[in-house]
Amino acid sequence: MRTAAFATLLAAGGLSQGFEPTDFNITAALLENGVDASVFPKLSSLEERSFSNGCRATCNSLRLIFGDDQVDTQQEPAYKAFINNLWSAQQQEIAPRCVFKPRDARAVSTSILLSRLTQCPFAAKSGGHSAVPGGSNIMGGVTINFEGMTKISVSRDKKTVSFQPGHTWYDIYTALEKYNVTVVGGRVASVGVGGLTLGGGISYFSSMYGLACDNVLSYELVTASGRILTVSEKSRADLYWALRGGGNNFGLVTQFTVAAFPREPTMWGGMRTYMATEFPALIKAYYNLGINAKQDGKAHQILSFGYGGPQLGQVAQVELEYADPMANASILGEYNAIQGALADQTAIRSLTELTALLDSSATGNGLRQSFWTWTVKLDESLATAAKDIFFEELPAIVDAEGILPAISLQVITEPILELMAQRGGNALGLSAQDGPLMSLLIACRWIQSADDGRINKFSDKVKNRVLAAAAAKGKASPYLYMNYASPWQDAVAGYGAANKAKLKSISKKYDPRGVFQKLQPGYFKLDGAPRGRLV
Ligand SMILES: Cc1cc2nc3c(=O)[nH]c(=O)nc-3n(C[C@H](O)[C@H](O)[C@H](O)COP(=O)(O)OP(=O)(O)OC[C@H]3O[C@@H](n4cnc5c(N)ncnc54)[C@H](O)[C@@H]3O)c2cc1C
Ligand SMILES: *[C@@H]1O[C@H](CO)[C@@H](O)[C@H](O)[C@H]1NC(C)=O
Ligand SMILES: *[C@@H]1O[C@H](CO)[C@@H](O)[C@H](O)[C@H]1NC(C)=O
Ligand SMILES: *[C@@H]1O[C@H](CO)[C@@H](O)[C@H](O)[C@H]1NC(C)=O
Repeated sequence: MRTAAFATLLAAGGLSQGFEPTDFNITAALLENGVDASVFPKLSSLEERSFSNGCRATCNSLRLIFGDDQVDTQQEPAYKAFINNLWSAQQQEIAPRCVFKPRDARAVSTSILLSRLTQCPFAAKSGGHSAVPGGSNIMGGVTINFEGMTKISVSRDKKTVSFQPGHTWYDIYTALEKYNVTVVGGRVASVGVGGLTLGGGISYFSSMYGLACDNVLSYELVTASGRILTVSEKSRADLYWALRGGGNNFGLVTQFTVAAFPREPTMWGGMRTYMATEFPALIKAYYNLGINAKQDGKAHQILSFGYGGPQLGQVAQVELEYADPMANASILGEYNAIQGALADQTAIRSLTELTALLDSSATGNGLRQSFWTWTVKLDESLATAAKDIFFEELPAIVDAEGILPAISLQVITEPILELMAQRGGNALGLSAQDGPLMSLLIACRWIQSADDGRINKFSDKVKNRVLAAAAAKGKASPYLYMNYASPWQDAVAGYGAANKAKLKSISKKYDPRGVFQKLQPGYFKLDGAPRGRLV
């Protein structure tokens, strides 16, 4: 009697001790989802638990449970369409065993549990614009494609918007136009809501409202044990903090509820292109706009330098925006006074149109792509040094077929940094005292895989040289923007040792077996860069 009561007590204790009990029963969790794993012969008799057996069993089970329509296999046109929709050639080269298209959170939960049961690795794809090979696709495993999860709704008071991860920003902005509200999200039409929001999310409106992650009010999250949680400042505040910058390390988000802001139907913005004679004036204007962000947060900028081919040579492109439909905002006066643009696409348009305009110039689906990033204090001479070092190193790659290299300078402004403190703060490890910061990105696209090595080495070298110049002035920052990081960069370490330790302990609590660390290996994990060091 006493022993039985004691055992019950122990069992209850086991459950309450942790989020997932040590004797967590995956089969029982599947039953709770209405899935009887014992009816799948391959699952119940997985004598040979090889990677490929496990994934075959998972894909077959998913097809039996959810039907053919929701599971695409390699011979199907839908599978090929999925692959072609991934942004980079490197991600298109990855062939998953199957692509699963869940329609609700429960289905996502079942997929994760089946992967655990069979030890079949998985990846998840929102907009597919990760620059990390394997970030949102997995060789031989199950790639969860959120395309069937596209609900979007505006609250009655128009103060919040909820959306599922199958959307691109273009879809979201289009849907919100008729309400005269918008949300803080991406600047390019085809980028997905999932990856951008989980890594931070720089928007045209960030100096007004903060990063995308800082405007998420709650997440619907599917955890490693298949539980569907509502995560907000009031409910599971630790996870809420971790999800704001933590990437795909804590679960799969099946719905974001974010703050909405009233908006006029149009705004001003676009791209201008200049030759090298204007570089000094552009850098000065970039610095002054960055330093003065507090005066008028409606202005936004990205200043990029690149190579326009043997005819054009070195060129600069500046992307300027103003949140209102006003072509001559005084904060943009210095930029607007720079004459001699080779091309000028600035105009008053809707937000949706602006993101579409930038897409035609920014994408290039199916080409090889790389992103590298780093951060230094905002400083005019460092901006010049970054541009100069980029052009000094460029001859090493300039003959690569189809090469399009660019270095982009953005500003993590004081308002952006201050707004990170709202709702308990985020995981990025930045504070108002750090700023303003200059966020740098080298983005290259090219054609031949034989050039991968030298192009990544080029970007790494430019980064290291600029960081050394910054360190010499006491102006280097350890921060790495996850959404721009290369697979050889340890984005989470860039958040600082304390935040990394905190993220790891939150992961231990909600995912004690490390499902999102090991079974979902793509992208930036809590320990180390996806690819180690570049050699
Ligand atoms: C052309 C272009 C324009 C860009 N513009 C901007 C910009 O304006 N501002 C900015 O901040 N960044 C920008 N970026 C960077 C962008 O934020 C990242 O590339 C981001 O990862 C893309 O998100 P995605 O959903 O499209 O990518 P995906 O490849 O689908 O996802 C990226 C990662 O997030 C994970 N993930 C996605 N959805 C979920 C989910 N629901 N739950 C859990 N994990 C999930 C994936 O598993 C993957 O590891 C741009 C990138 C490109 C290529
Ligand atoms: C797990 O749960 C299933 C279904 O409820 C049950 O048949 C099985 O015995 C359980 N396994 C263990 C180890 O408790
Ligand atoms: C949105 O704004 C436009 C123009 O200002 C106005 O005509 C329209 O009625 C507004 N729509 C809503 C739903 O408020
Ligand atoms: C912008 O231009 C309009 C007319 O085109 C003018 O009325 C306004 O004063 C100008 N504003 C600034 C800040 O220059």
